[in-house]
Amino acid sequence: MKGIVRFGVSMDQALLSAFDKVLSKKGYKNRSEGIRDLIRDKLVEERWEEEREAVGVITLVYDHEVRALPEILTDLQHRFHTAMVSTLHVHLDEHNCLEVLVVRGMARKIRRIADRLISTKGVKHGKLTMTTTGRGLS
Ligand code: NI
Repeated sequence: MKGIVRFGVSMDQALLSAFDKVLSKKGYKNRSEGIRDLIRDKLVEERWEEEREAVGVITLVYDHEVRALPEILTDLQHRFHTAMVSTLHVHLDEHNCLEVLVVRGMARKIRRIADRLISTKGVKHGKLTMTTTGRGLS
């Protein structure tokens, strides 16, 4: 297993038991993969602070009958078109729409785009999921 390092971690029994319960609930087959995912998550989070190229997924739920709202949201997406990788629109029911936007660019810019879209009047719920291009992450 070239490149693999084994290391020991000391911790309180109760803390480890609680962690194992979470891993089991989430379907992890072993503790190592759970710990690797935690570390990767922390590294991705750290990169968002370091102002590198990142990928974000923005979800928006809104009522398309709110006056001018679909046009405002579309205009914003066009304004930031260089960062827009892909968009998905789902008509949830007669009134509500879900939009999923995949955005790629510098972390700060992605945050700005997400803030602008999510804070638009009439958006019922908006969320930015910060993820990675995958480069440099084993
Ligand atoms: Ni719709």
